[in-house]
Amino acid sequence: MNASAAVAAAVVPAAGRGERLGPGAPKALRELGGVPLLVHAVRALARSRAVGLVVVAAPADGVAEVVALLDGHGLDGKDFRVVAGGATRQESVRLGLAAIPEDVEIVLVHDAARPLVPVEVVDAVAAAVRAGAPAVVPAVPLADTVKRVEPNPGRPEPVLDTPERATLRAVQTPQGFDRATLVEVHAKALAEEAAGGADAVPVTDDAGLVERYGGTVVVVPGHEEAFKVTRPLDLVLAEAVLARRRAADDY
Ligand code: CTP
Ligand code: MG
Repeated sequence: MNASAAVAAAVVPAAGRGERLGPGAPKALRELGGVPLLVHAVRALARSRAVGLVVVAAPADGVAEVVALLDGHGLDGKDFRVVAGGATRQESVRLGLAAIPEDVEIVLVHDAARPLVPVEVVDAVAAAVRAGAPAVVPAVPLADTVKRVEPNPGRPEPVLDTPERATLRAVQTPQGFDRATLVEVHAKALAEEAAGGADAVPVTDDAGLVERYGGTVVVVPGHEEAFKVTRPLDLVLAEAVLARRRAADDY
């Protein structure tokens, strides 16, 4: 393995609107402790020795703004690139992947909306890929019991069944991949969509694509602070976590 093959590249999908967070700037540019979520997320990746390059898929009309933002915040000397993202998370990841140099063999995909992921999680995911797993996801056990329902928004929904909670995990990012595996499943999904085979249930993470095409995915421990900022309350929690870190002076 040459030097750049040993170091992972990270793709950060950051092109979403953040509709569930409410009106305002694109979610990745909303601030947490006075710093955009995206900058927190990129810094969290750059803090890992496993990561050598970060590729951000920015809102299509925000590429220059994101370049300026990342230029203005220290990234531990790590290299970064910014590309225009797409209409879906999947497309944004695919566009980011296309900007990674050919000789990089390990790719991490990390949501801009997970600003507080601890570096230990980034390291653990990269290490598991380096040790030979083609697809790795960090995850945590669930606090709530989960039921499958017949969706019927606005009305009482019939319950179908209750999966055993001990067998369930809530999946986070960064997810880590052997680069060839990830490129291949994204290409297959694109070809399938182009052929009109869009009946498949849309996947909400990259490992889901690997599963769809028969690949093996393993779980490593995630962290409660790697939660995704999705709704307004998540931002309140994120501010509290950040304040606690700053008070402990470990940030
Ligand atoms: N994302 C992206 N391109 C899209 C949609 C989403 O890069 N077209 C990114 C988001 O920026 C985010 C990550 O995928 O970092 C996870 O998506 P999610 O939390 O759903 O973010 P949004 O799509 O922005 O939020 P919402 O679904 O509430 O609109
Ligand atoms: Mg979304």
